[in-house]
Amino acid sequence: MIQIEHLYKTYPGGKQSEAHAALKDINLTIEDGSIFGIIGQSGAGKSTLVRCINLLERPTEGEIIIDGVNITDLTGKDLLEFRANVGMIFQNFSLFQQRTVLRNVTFPLELHKGYNKAEAKKRALELLELVGLADKADKYPSQLSGGQQQRVAIARALINNPSIMLCDEATSALDTMTTQSILQLLKDINKELGVTIVLITHSLLVAETICDTIAVIDAGQIVEMGFTKDVFENPQSDATRQLLGKRA
Ligand SMILES: Nc1ncnc2c1ncn2[C@@H]1O[C@H](COP(=O)(O)OP(=O)(O)OP(=O)(O)O)[C@@H](O)[C@H]1O
Ligand SMILES: [Mg+2]
Repeated sequence: MIQIEHLYKTYPGGKQSEAHAALKDINLTIEDGSIFGIIGQSGAGKSTLVRCINLLERPTEGEIIIDGVNITDLTGKDLLEFRANVGMIFQNFSLFQQRTVLRNVTFPLELHKGYNKAEAKKRALELLELVGLADKADKYPSQLSGGQQQRVAIARALINNPSIMLCDEATSALDTMTTQSILQLLKDINKELGVTIVLITHSLLVAETICDTIAVIDAGQIVEMGFTKDVFENPQSDATRQLLGKRA
């Protein structure tokens, strides 16, 4: 279970700008095995929130408790171990262009001490099979379509057997058909591997297709949360109604 309690993130101001409160008193509970959506307008704080969940961004205040451990206290080896338990995929796939597909997938393992090349390759090939790209192992990212590149990123995100996967606008660069096929893959991974998925999107269709539960974030605050169906049918906040294109 992921419990977020009184989370604040303030970006310090520079010479020209004032400090910016990107997240304000976020409280959320994400159940194990769920597909949890976070939706909101551009600049609402979605990426900041997921980046806090794997400590790519340090919260300014508040706690993030995962399976009973307050991860904001973690340092050194414990932090690395925790990060390995959280896979992440992005809008732009973030693959290494000079590495083959196979070596993109094995990359996170190469960071470990005692990395075993033969075992890593075997595991990577299994995952490429899972995402439907067993025949592309020796290709380079530029030789793949966007949807295929995202599948490679998904395989890479799974290489350490994470229990959580964070997806930040993972399908925003893809067409409708490809989006649906990636969402189906994420659903399968959730179901078959039991991975909890936290998915950020500005697309209502994506949220509706895949998320059990959604939270709506507006100007750094959660303004609404509930079963996806309920939120869509009966939105409670102005921000949600605006996203849905309904009149307040
Ligand atoms: N590194 C940073 N330094 C300063 N301000 C930042 C930084 N990252 C984000 N912000 C600000 O924090 C706010 C939230 O940004 P964030 O990237 O979390 O939004 P978002 O909901 O993911 O938007 P989008 O849908 O456009 O990706 C924005 O006002 C943004 O300008
Ligand atoms: Mg973002």
